[in-house]
Amino acid sequence: MSKALAIQEAPTLDETRASLHEKLKGIVPGAEIELKAELAFKINRLKAEKNAIILGHNYMEPALYHSVPDHTGDSLALARESAETDADIILFCGVQFMAETAKILNPDKTVLIPSDKAGCSLASGINAANVRDLKRMYPGAPVVTYVNTYASVKAESDYCCTSGNAPGVVRHLLSEGHEQIIFLPDEYLGRNTARELGIGFVLPPLIQGIAPEAVTGPAIIGWRARCEVHEVFSVEDITAVRKQFPDVSIVAHPECHPDVVDASDYSGSTKQMNDYVAATDAGRFLLLTECSMGDNIMAENPEKDMLRLCSSRCPHMNQITMEDTLRALEELRFQVELPRDIIDQARLPIDRMLAIH
Ligand code: 13P
Ligand code: SF4
Repeated sequence: MSKALAIQEAPTLDETRASLHEKLKGIVPGAEIELKAELAFKINRLKAEKNAIILGHNYMEPALYHSVPDHTGDSLALARESAETDADIILFCGVQFMAETAKILNPDKTVLIPSDKAGCSLASGINAANVRDLKRMYPGAPVVTYVNTYASVKAESDYCCTSGNAPGVVRHLLSEGHEQIIFLPDEYLGRNTARELGIGFVLPPLIQGIAPEAVTGPAIIGWRARCEVHEVFSVEDITAVRKQFPDVSIVAHPECHPDVVDASDYSGSTKQMNDYVAATDAGRFLLLTECSMGDNIMAENPEKDMLRLCSSRCPHMNQITMEDTLRALEELRFQVELPRDIIDQARLPIDRMLAIH
């Protein structure tokens, strides 16, 4: 499509306003929708003018989520979209590790993230030297790295995984004859994956130089990083909510503690949680994950009653605002830059993950 045609086809201000009011009525105050509609209109015009694509994670705030992304989804879906785009610019409305994954898959494109402060407690919980130490400690064990890591950690890995395909990736390695699999960095995702597959789970010694405990039989060798949002949910929260709302269906992200996952009705990636709510009949739902997702699901499924437990928010995802998304396109900031050798090494584990269905 020509640039002029693309700009003509971008929604008008009136269309943007009407669509946001329709989707977000009762979820976002009307005055806020008016302000956000103007920003969305400008972002969408600029996006067309610059041949950019916007990828929006499921945790984005409702007005952004429902107005500017070309694709929304979980980490896996957005990595797949970024691998297939022919846009010149990829603007990632998500956190740094997600934008880095898009850059690794598109080294010659401009990849932007609206904030340079959108980190992740899991990604900052491990570094490349930690991975090299683990490989020395457990020689021959393949390394599966959650996408919630920085590129230098991915570069030391054999496979990547997301919360949407972690059991599938580990199962694939078990079927190839591997017994012990290093799985980094989320302890709870590792424990939940091991439970689902019926295999063991061990943690490496805390102190360098101490020999690791002997591992016999198929097992995941994990790491001690946690998601600062999901680690907060407890079985007591679930018990209290079920007492008050016996018809509630509770949906937990697999970054939650295994006991929380066990006490829930369903667990899956943010996309799988979305799909579960859309396909399930229940009096009401409670999502144990970043709070914005409840709003986004409610906007798409107005007939569903969503409870909220918003005591813990992701401070990193919440860095991404519509104002900064507009500035990102205006000023082409913040550009994701990675050393070429890291890109080349980190690409292989991501490609291997994307090849597993
Ligand atoms: P998803 O891959 O399930 O979207 O999870 C990403 C994330 O950061 C969860 O906290
Ligand atoms: Fe990282 Fe947790 Fe925030 Fe997801 S919710 S980006 S895992 S800190």
